[in-house]
Amino acid sequence: MTATVSGKASKYDQLIEPTRVHGSLYTDDEIFREELEKIWYRTWVFVGHESEVPEPNDYVRTAIGPQDLVLSRDREGVLHVLVNRCAHRGNLVCDDQRGNSSSFRCPYHGWTYKNNGDLLGYPFNRGYGGKGNIEGELGLGVLPRVDSYQGFVFASFASEGPSLVEHLGAAARELDRLAGLSPEGKAELTAGWLKHQTGANWKLLVENETDGYHPQFVHGAIFGVTGSPIGALYSDKSTAVTRDLGGGHSENDLRPEFRKFGEPMRWFGTTEERVFEYASRMREAYGDEDAERVMIEGAPHVMIFPNLFIAEIQVFAIQPLSAHECVQRSTAVQLRGAGDINKRLVSQCMGSVGPAGMLLADDTEMYERNQYGVGMRKPEWLDIRRGVDRERVDENGFKIGTATDETGMRGFWGHYKSLMEAE
Ligand code: FES
Ligand SMILES: [Fe+2]
Repeated sequence: MTATVSGKASKYDQLIEPTRVHGSLYTDDEIFREELEKIWYRTWVFVGHESEVPEPNDYVRTAIGPQDLVLSRDREGVLHVLVNRCAHRGNLVCDDQRGNSSSFRCPYHGWTYKNNGDLLGYPFNRGYGGKGNIEGELGLGVLPRVDSYQGFVFASFASEGPSLVEHLGAAARELDRLAGLSPEGKAELTAGWLKHQTGANWKLLVENETDGYHPQFVHGAIFGVTGSPIGALYSDKSTAVTRDLGGGHSENDLRPEFRKFGEPMRWFGTTEERVFEYASRMREAYGDEDAERVMIEGAPHVMIFPNLFIAEIQVFAIQPLSAHECVQRSTAVQLRGAGDINKRLVSQCMGSVGPAGMLLADDTEMYERNQYGVGMRKPEWLDIRRGVDRERVDENGFKIGTATDETGMRGFWGHYKSLMEAE
């Protein structure tokens, strides 16, 4: 998928420059429709986790943009992503958020479908020339490609394109890091999702996810109240870096800061003694040296294009609804075989992004204020130049900036532009 723009500058050349982006990108309904086609219905999008559907016939509702989907595991254990739309007259066939069923029955005229999308039956079948006449012809929409990495399930509406591993590129190793925090090498998403609807364009959320410039200001109050050391990670003195991982993915690599202190579990705001069961299982599983390194370095903070954000102990999925609105789902990371730490992971996640959580409320206020602002007439651009002159290339060839630089945003926009310019 390469850009085929020749001669005159493309529309997106005029809207996306290396260090600034035009405000209309966040408000234009036509651009949103184009994003659905060129990004959301073309690339790999995170839809759920294998641990949400562990048993044969388990299913969960999910979504890509405005498309209502069902992630199902059939009786053979194969994963499918189905479009929640009846082939008869378009009704929703699945109402429950999750469940276990080998079939789905449409409430309108009772057509039933297998959990792989095949049409199974239709009442009063003589109207269709009898049983067995239209099964092969009609069925639920099925996404042509479903794949998973470290249990994270991605799907694509496009039958062709880069493989999931190619799409993830360097971001794959961040999922490996997350899994490596479990004594059994498996991260799970079994704590249930919270949904927050936000009056903002999805890209404002993506940009914010690895923006290390705002935490001191936006989250200053909660850091102050809780005495959290997180604020210092995103300061001018921090040795943490922002890295453009390519493919629109980016991360805040906090490891340099945590290595400086060399204290296991500092990233989680605790000590090894207070999560003794977890720490001893880690040491048993990986040996003292490796376990200690993993427990010092902590969890990744990575935005995987276009919708999966892992913020150490919690996972977010972004679902755009329109140019002006999106839903952000969030859940706590659970580490398989980890014992006492899992409950703490849930309560810390609730404290930051639950209904009364402060981090998400702080950020949401910022997205919505931004959305209001980008609708105003002057100035027309948003600036993303922070740190461009001090950016450097690391030993693996990735662009890195300091903890507070907009390196990740620039990486996002470069990739966005290449997708939007593609035919
Ligand atoms: S719309 Fe589903 S059975 Fe008629
Ligand atoms: Fe934030």
